Amino acid sequence: MNLRLKESADEAALRAIYEASFGQMTEATLVQQLRMDGDLILSLIAYTEEPVGHVAFSRLSLDAVPSIKGCGLAPLAVIPAGQGQGVGTFLVEEGLKRMRAEGYDLVLVLGEPEYYGRFGFTTTLARQLKTLYDGPYLQALALSEKGKEAHGSISYARAFAELK
Ligand SMILES: CC(C)(COP(=O)(O)OP(=O)(O)OC[C@H]1O[C@@H](n2cnc3c(N)ncnc32)[C@H](O)[C@@H]1OP(=O)(O)O)[C@@H](O)C(=O)NCCC(=O)NCCS
Repeated sequence: MNLRLKESADEAALRAIYEASFGQMTEATLVQQLRMDGDLILSLIAYTEEPVGHVAFSRLSLDAVPSIKGCGLAPLAVIPAGQGQGVGTFLVEEGLKRMRAEGYDLVLVLGEPEYYGRFGFTTTLARQLKTLYDGPYLQALALSEKGKEAHGSISYARAFAELK
């Protein structure tokens, strides 16, 4: 697959990806809201001839340890026709690389441990945290030694709180 990754605010592409993957606009609207609120750190779109996948990273804060720089990975989607060909992996790995380069210490994600485990996310680190999404699907990845010290209450970007 000839893939191109682009940091982009292409809203038509976002809507097309989330409509095809989830059959709804909630996630595309969430990304828009995160951007408007100034909470979006990275929005990466994967293109072949058409947009095939997207991942976003947004700001979150650790109330007890504000010196730890944290972010949330969400949402992530690949259109059905593009799934199982490494697009999701490419998006996540590139996103994590950029977050590490930007000095982020910790990434949180909510999803299938079987999928996110391959990138090093664990539920063990997530259990030290108190979030809106506590449970078996919340996972964390430390990008630095400091990230491993993460604990306590997490405040997600406002757009997530409004989804609940
Ligand atoms: C989940 C998703 C982002 C993965 O992207 P992708 O490009 O299809 O994934 P990749 O090609 O990089 O990786 C494929 C691998 O992930 C696995 N996988 C895909 N979806 C999975 C899921 N929901 N749970 C567990 N494993 C999953 C595949 O079995 C495959 O495993 P293998 O490498 O051992 O064969 C994509 O399938 C998707 O958008 N699905 C629908 C929306 C969704 O469920 N999003 C929430 C993500 S938690």
